Amino acid sequence: MTNKILFIANWKMFGNLNSVKSIESVINLSKKKNYKNAKIIYCPPYTLLDKFVIKTRKTKLCVGAQNCHQVINTGPYTGAISTTMIKKIGAKYVIIGHSENRSNGETNNQINKKIHSAISNNLIVIFCIGENLFEKKHNRTNNILKKQIYLGLKQIKKIDKIIFAYEPVWSIGTGKILTNKELTKQIIIIKNIIKNLYKKQKTKIIYGGSVNNKNINNLKQINEIDGFLIGGASKSSKKFIDIIKNYYR
Ligand code: PGA
Repeated sequence: MTNKILFIANWKMFGNLNSVKSIESVINLSKKKNYKNAKIIYCPPYTLLDKFVIKTRKTKLCVGAQNCHQVINTGPYTGAISTTMIKKIGAKYVIIGHSENRSNGETNNQINKKIHSAISNNLIVIFCIGENLFEKKHNRTNNILKKQIYLGLKQIKKIDKIIFAYEPVWSIGTGKILTNKELTKQIIIIKNIIKNLYKKQKTKIIYGGSVNNKNINNLKQINEIDGFLIGGASKSSKKFIDIIKNYYR
C-alpha cells in the first residue's frame, strides 16, 4: 500500500450529477508537485460511483464505495450492492463499519463478512472503528476498539488490504475533537492492538471526525496518523482543497 497521506472524502448521502464537475479543482490540485504525496480518494454515494470513476480516470484520484452487502456476488437483497458490483464498476476502496451503519444495527459479525467479501474482490477496506460518548464516559474505549478490531477482522489474513479509520462517534459532525496528546495516545493503543493480532505488520491508521481546514493544522503534527476520513468538509471542493493545502503548508 501507498506511503502517502490519505485524504478520503466521505460524501455520505450527498451529491447529484451536478456535483461531479465540482471535483475538477481537486483533480487539478493533485497534479501539482507540492501535493504529490497526497492520496485523494472519493467515496460518493452509490448513485455516483460510475460517474466518479469515469471523471477520475487517468488522474491520481481513486474512488471508493461507502458500504457494501456481505454477500459477494448477486442475490435477492433489495437495495443492496455487493463488492463484486463495486469492483466491476471500477472502484478500488470500500468503507466498512462506519458508525452511522453500526448505529443502524450493523453488527461486528456482518462487518467481518463484508470485509471478507471486499478482500476476496481485491478491494481495499477503509475499516471504521470508534467509541461512542457513553463508552468514552465509562472508560470503555479501549475495550470497544479491541472488540471491534478482533471481531471485525476474524479470519482476515490480508491486513495490508485494510486501512484503519479511527472515528470517535462523538466527534463525527460535532466539531468536537480530541487533543493531539489524547489522539496520539489512542492511535498508539490501536496500533498495539493490531500488532498483537498481526505481529510485525505495518498498517495504516487514519483519523476521522470533524476534520476541517483549521484543525488540520494541529492534526498534521501527529506523526502516527496516515491520513484523514473527511465527511462534511469534503463536500465543498474548496474546503477539501484547503485541508490538503494546509496539511502541506
Ligand atoms: P465528519 O464525518 O468529517 O463530518 O465529522 C466523518 C465521517 O463520518 O467519516
